[in-house]
Amino acid sequence: MPSIRELYISHVAQTSEIPLMLEIERAEGMYIYSAEGKRYLDLNSGISVSSLGHRHPNVINAVKNQLDKYLHTMVYGEHIHTPQVAFAELLTQTLDNGLDSVYYLSSGTESVEGAMKLARKHTGRYNVVACSSAYHGSTMGSESLRSDDEFTRSFLPGVPGVRHIDFNDESQLSKIDEDTACIILEPVQAEGGVIPPEDNYLQKVRKRCDEVGALMVLDEIQTGFGRTGYLFAHKKYDVVPDILLMGKAMGGGMPVSAFVAPKEIMMALAKKPMLGHITTFGGHPACVAAAHATLQTLTDEEIYKDVLRKEALIRSKLKHPIIKEIRSSGLMMGVELTRRKYLKHVVNHTIKNGAVIDYFLFNNKSFRLAPPLIINDEQIEEGCNILLAAMDYARFKYTKR
Ligand SMILES: Cc1ncc(COP(=O)(O)O)c(C=O)c1O
Repeated sequence: MPSIRELYISHVAQTSEIPLMLEIERAEGMYIYSAEGKRYLDLNSGISVSSLGHRHPNVINAVKNQLDKYLHTMVYGEHIHTPQVAFAELLTQTLDNGLDSVYYLSSGTESVEGAMKLARKHTGRYNVVACSSAYHGSTMGSESLRSDDEFTRSFLPGVPGVRHIDFNDESQLSKIDEDTACIILEPVQAEGGVIPPEDNYLQKVRKRCDEVGALMVLDEIQTGFGRTGYLFAHKKYDVVPDILLMGKAMGGGMPVSAFVAPKEIMMALAKKPMLGHITTFGGHPACVAAAHATLQTLTDEEIYKDVLRKEALIRSKLKHPIIKEIRSSGLMMGVELTRRKYLKHVVNHTIKNGAVIDYFLFNNKSFRLAPPLIINDEQIEEGCNILLAAMDYARFKYTKR
């Protein structure tokens, strides 16, 4: 009889030849439990998804209630589903300046695709500007926004009309011009290793877009729903996008995403011709019910308002000779080590000793910390102790050679 691990390798497609292979038994609150009976403190949130921790009771109850009413009834956009209406009303009340129409999808990359199409259709323009070292998803349009050709080379040709600029370099903003449909960027670059905007960069992007009539699309798929200490990072950095993208933490562990725009822009997808963007499962009622419970819990319990204090607490505890710098925006943190060789040891040793952390796609000297926002002070202490011990180990390992 093959083991579950062997069956996994044989029949479940892998994304690398070295998968982590943590066999999950269950997950609750801040902890993940393996089939071997080991407990792991989650400092990663499944890459910024489980902001309320695992299986938050409000989310579980909302899903259960919806399961007893109805699941899928029709492709998106034809039937009225109460969960979709209720969540859209709640969400848009928290947003500014006409961001009042919510297009529901299932994954982050789909919201990027939808936004690109909407920007092209609304403006009648063709080009899209994106930032280097950004990750917006793995479908062909989102993949075409990637700047590093090591990843894209084997999938070319991508979607034409994409130009790249470097995040935080205002001298390159002139590449957003009268032919640009939109710029798509993250308010804080996530996979680059957590790069916050500097010198009012986002406001400068906004100004340039206004000057040339391009739309500003903010990808808040990773920064949204309290991660940076504000409900959305654009509120923190005081800028309002034309199209806002969300996903990941939105569903409290259920798959749902959206792009949000003013109604008059969004209507471009409904006319000349109609059905400009359609989806079967986008805004699935059980997932949107989960999103509603997530947003309600985040705001009622003001969970995200304690994020900046927790960020400061982690920064004060994480002091070690092999840390070069910590970049952060709330509980989205990149810890850069003095040498690249330390990284693998720190990550492996941390996981071995019972805390989950992760790498970044485009930064090979830093590890990612993105714990659920509900982490308490004792768990911060527990996590930092495991991390510091892993850094001691990595330093020892490397010095020995
Ligand atoms: C900023 C950002 N945008 C888009 C995506 C794509 O989201 P998904 O994996 O749900 O398609 C990700 C995923 O990591 C992301 O971090």
